[in-house]
Amino acid sequence: MQSNEIRVFCPATIANVSCGFDVLGLALDAVGDEMVVKKTVEKGIKITKLTGQNLPMETLQNVAGVAGLALLAESDYDGGFEIEIYKKIKAGSGIGSSAASSTGAVWAMNELIGKPFTPLQLVKFAMEGERLASGVAHADNVAPAIFGGFTLVRSYTPLDVVKINTPPELYATVIHPQIEVKTSDSRRILKTTISLEDGIKQWGNVGGLIAGLFTEDYELIGRSLEDHIVEPIRSILIPGFDKVKEKALETGALGCGISGSGPSIYALSKGEAIANNVAKAMTDVYDKIGIDYDIHVSKINAKGIKII
Ligand code: HSE
Repeated sequence: MQSNEIRVFCPATIANVSCGFDVLGLALDAVGDEMVVKKTVEKGIKITKLTGQNLPMETLQNVAGVAGLALLAESDYDGGFEIEIYKKIKAGSGIGSSAASSTGAVWAMNELIGKPFTPLQLVKFAMEGERLASGVAHADNVAPAIFGGFTLVRSYTPLDVVKINTPPELYATVIHPQIEVKTSDSRRILKTTISLEDGIKQWGNVGGLIAGLFTEDYELIGRSLEDHIVEPIRSILIPGFDKVKEKALETGALGCGISGSGPSIYALSKGEAIANNVAKAMTDVYDKIGIDYDIHVSKINAKGIKII
């Protein structure tokens, strides 16, 4: 018998992965929200509990509510849902807080009504939550949360998501300096055109990263984690960014850059021991500057959202 209620883990995600602005993303294992979703006879969506962050609970103001309504609008199911959200990911941290809530809602609803929708359709619904959060329906956080591992949004129109292989020894280190950078603000400061010269460097790196992930060539992954377009502009908003990156690379990280729209900074390393050393190097920088932070070391989450 199908159950009427499930509890899910919704992973944090790193969008962009340096070279892939708005197209590349990966899911984390060690950080994520929890949600409980229940079927109700009453139609519509109600957020009945929200802990851990101060966020709106009105359905139309909440990313889980809006994403859920997008699913309901295309579903034959004639009931509704109640959602409890237990936030562990801080809003505005740059590791996909809104994406975790949006994807958790639609993924769990789909499970409860017998999985009528494909993962790609779930990405589309969850993108409505991203539209509410940042003004732009980007898919680079929601896609890895749903598909797991690394994902590439090959195209937005039509939406086409490709799941990329995850090399088993890859670990992420993420440091979140306690300053707030809103995605909408950090998008506004970007230029809308790029030079051909920068384009050449950037798509060379995107291709290199994808090839490195599939062939599990860690050196190639490292060489490809470069961003010539967005990082030079956005890094100005993140105190200590250059120093954190320098120290992470010196300590053995394969690459280091801004996580999503920041202010979190991520590094990828081969093996947990190096990822832990990188965490120490990153925290040393912020300890010296005197900025508080959260730090996470995580394996890449190859599965994405799961029932717990
Ligand atoms: N690709 C988006 C951006 C991700 O960089 O604005 C936001 O988390």
